[in-house]
Amino acid sequence: MAALHAKVRPFKTLDLYPKRSGHPRTCARFRCSAAAPPRPRSYSVTILPGDGIGPEVVSVAKDILSVAGSHEGIEFRFREMPVGGAAIDSVGVPLPEETLAAAKESDAVLLGAIGGYKWDGNEKHLKPETGLLQLRAGLGVFANLRPAAVLPQLVDSSTLKKEVAEGVDIMVVRELTGGIYFGKPRGFGTNDKGDNTGFNTEVYSASEIDRIARVAFEVARKRRGKLCSVDKANVLEASMLWRKRVTMLASEFSDVQLSHMYVDNAAMQLIRDPKQFDTIVTNNIFGDILSDEASMLTGSIGMLPSASVSESGPGLFEPIHGSAPDIAGQDKANPLATVLSAAMLLRYGLGEENAAKRIETAVMETLNRGFRTGDIISPRMTLVGCKRMGEEVLKSVDSQKALTASL
Ligand code: IPM
Ligand code: MG
Repeated sequence: MAALHAKVRPFKTLDLYPKRSGHPRTCARFRCSAAAPPRPRSYSVTILPGDGIGPEVVSVAKDILSVAGSHEGIEFRFREMPVGGAAIDSVGVPLPEETLAAAKESDAVLLGAIGGYKWDGNEKHLKPETGLLQLRAGLGVFANLRPAAVLPQLVDSSTLKKEVAEGVDIMVVRELTGGIYFGKPRGFGTNDKGDNTGFNTEVYSASEIDRIARVAFEVARKRRGKLCSVDKANVLEASMLWRKRVTMLASEFSDVQLSHMYVDNAAMQLIRDPKQFDTIVTNNIFGDILSDEASMLTGSIGMLPSASVSESGPGLFEPIHGSAPDIAGQDKANPLATVLSAAMLLRYGLGEENAAKRIETAVMETLNRGFRTGDIISPRMTLVGCKRMGEEVLKSVDSQKALTASL
């Protein structure tokens, strides 16, 4: 099994496979015989359905996680907690203390989506988005991995020409707990002309840059060995330090080819020639924007999962699409991004590679069998809703032959 940090680890780096409570169950009351079959591995997963289509897609992903896990001898203990607008309505805040506590105690967190028109006019501390940012900060999940791969089955869904889109396979590594999203000072004020102002601070420390850069180098070396660091070092001091630190770290990763690009150019190059990119590392706000752009190369944001991980605690796994309130509750949502997030949860959160592969293989098989939700429909394919898509993926999970450990 390939850990991202499988090679030499001269520094403390991200433990992407925390073996916390996911150990085989110990035999507390009975003596284990040496010949006993392997005990099931048991993990606790906090489920945060959230708002809009969140509950629908999470419910599908949870079932698939359970079944794929059971084929690998894994048991899950699920605990569902409110977050976002749902939490504002039920408890009065977007991230209740109990929700953060449950998330921190668990082995991994699966989130649906947050937000909706209903809460758009709320004050900042009562916005669903604030709950998500508090959750990321509370879990310390500073590294956000957002893959954007164009699947052969869906190449026609891309708005780019086939020859540009075909074969695109990018991983955006976004810094998630620093930069302008969290920097101080921030707020509203008045300038010396008496004009109202709003201000934020883009700030990064060397250690914050180093830790995200190390994750990105490690991700890149497990992929095609190319890392592009995106910044605005021609203008911003925070970016100048970013570029300096990333360049310094490159000597530790001589097997990775590092390049730098200004963010405006990167936005253009992603559309012009996306295949030039393998792994991209960037700050919080540039990562927010570029990962949405990269996702659209693939044709459907409804297909893309994400993983947010910390140095040692539980990771947060969520689809990158939002809560889509316009189609919520209509059984139209594409659950595959959340299903694939469950696969990332298994791989990056629990180190359960085989179970992750089961889910990913089942998703590909389901697409090969022609099932499509509305966002990825094309001629001659079968249009299905969220639930049915989940049932078809489950059928594929169930029909898989045992995967060998070498897979
Ligand atoms: C994302 C979203 C969030 C962000 C919002 C909902 C706070 O756009 O996960 O990309 O800006 O990080
Ligand atoms: Mg975003």
